Amino acid sequence: MNNPYNIKGPYNPNPPKKKEEKKKRTILDLDEKQLTNVDKIIAIASGKGGVGKSTVAVNLAITLARMGYKVGLADADVYGPSVPKMTGTEGQMPGVEIYDAQGNLVEDYGQYVEDCTEIILPIEKFGVKWMSIGYFAKPEQALIWRGPMACNALKQMILQVKWGELDFLLVDLPPGTGDIHISLVHDIPLDGAIIVSTPQAVALSDVEKGVNLFRNENINKHIYGIIENMSWFTPAELPQNRYYIFGKDGCKAMAEKYNLPLLGQVPLVQGIREGGDEGNPAALLDGPLFDAMKAAALQLLK
Ligand SMILES: Nc1ncnc2c1ncn2[C@@H]1O[C@H](COP(=O)(O)OP(=O)(O)OP(=O)(O)O)[C@@H](O)[C@H]1O
Ligand SMILES: [Mg+2]
Repeated sequence: MNNPYNIKGPYNPNPPKKKEEKKKRTILDLDEKQLTNVDKIIAIASGKGGVGKSTVAVNLAITLARMGYKVGLADADVYGPSVPKMTGTEGQMPGVEIYDAQGNLVEDYGQYVEDCTEIILPIEKFGVKWMSIGYFAKPEQALIWRGPMACNALKQMILQVKWGELDFLLVDLPPGTGDIHISLVHDIPLDGAIIVSTPQAVALSDVEKGVNLFRNENINKHIYGIIENMSWFTPAELPQNRYYIFGKDGCKAMAEKYNLPLLGQVPLVQGIREGGDEGNPAALLDGPLFDAMKAAALQLLK
């Protein structure tokens, strides 16, 4: 058949199909491959802020490592990460491995690789693998995210990290029961959660929110129990005295109400605060925090 408009070449009734456009990889394509050899993923949560989640998470991780377990900790507080400071790893930059579309490690970083995957290497210190968005931001930089971006950052901190073989991956959550928490329970194969609270009434009312979040019928995640923090204060010069500054046994009563184990009680100790500020977590040494964390760990292992 003649083509009256044949200007550039003969008319082809079956023109070659346009090369199908390659679907661009997005962060949403992250899968659970890096978690294949992780045995238990446990979130450390609380309804209320400032009750000691990060302190408990960091020190529980160190205690489990001291007990001989392989441990990682993902800092899911993408708004206010505290793990780098608490572990003295601030300013360190995690390495990256690049894999091609076939899953082969790309050794030559100068080479252009189409459709590659980047895997972040965790920072290792105190026998624990740490990952935090804080390693990618300046300490004074405010982390301002829209909800979906924050959820993606959280996913990257867990799914895009080369965890290798772990007995425990702890996830330190930001306070509250918002977007991040819902994203976590939907996107990450969580085994369960530990709830941290102080014994005071105002913190306990938030424990109920935390319990209800994980026990919500659409979420339905196991709660390992409650860790009571700042249970009493003992001054160094009066080691036998206990002052119940935030009330006594509040979490014990809450644990009974919800039929949950009380995993441990951590006293308010100046050394715990100093250890956190100085990047030398108190559980590195024997003492009240290590004892409380060990007791909690033994219950987790039951
Ligand atoms: N048992 C304790 N004894 C002394 N100080 C403590 C204890 N637990 C936590 N702290 C201190 O209290 C402050 C708050 O603790 P932490 O950052 O762990 O709380 P958080 O629940 O993670 O807070 P956020 O909700 O902001 O994430 C820190 O300065 C920490 O060092
Ligand atoms: Mg915290």
